[in-house]
Amino acid sequence: MKYVVIALLGSLLSIAVAAPAFSQEADAAPGQRLFQQRCGACHQIATPRNGVGPNLQGVVGRAAGTVEGFRYSAALRDSGITWTPEQLETFLSNPTAMVRGTRMTQRYNNVEERRTIIEFLGTQ
Ligand code: HEC
Repeated sequence: MKYVVIALLGSLLSIAVAAPAFSQEADAAPGQRLFQQRCGACHQIATPRNGVGPNLQGVVGRAAGTVEGFRYSAALRDSGITWTPEQLETFLSNPTAMVRGTRMTQRYNNVEERRTIIEFLGTQ
């Protein structure tokens, strides 16, 4: 048991050491970097996979709740929204206020960051 704990600690440590090296190497545009930091835990954009949240490739111009194979809340699926930059702005600033019952609940209050991320989404 003790050995398992030590082994676990060891691998956590190597992740912690590797992470800063990675972010220094990464030469991503600010929008991509912010996306990874704020959204990347739940959303994929470089690959068509779904995660905790649906894939966001081509989300600008897309009808809400329509990614194949992702189980949306009924609220988002039936929202009738088409994602424009303005709609995304409203959603990210307070998702549950725009779509009552959505399972995305995190608010993003930083206006600059929101704009940067939305601009990035428009390029994907
Ligand atoms: C903790 C996980 C999580 C994080 C972090 C998160 N989301 Fe989400 N997001 C979700 C989930 C879950 C859904 C689906 C909600 C539903 O079905 O009601 C969703 C849905 C969405 C949708 C609607 C997509 C569609 O196909 O209609 C957009 C747009 C979106 N998220 C953008 C973002 C952006 C941009 C960020 C970062 C600023 C972000 N999300 C951060 C979990 C997350």
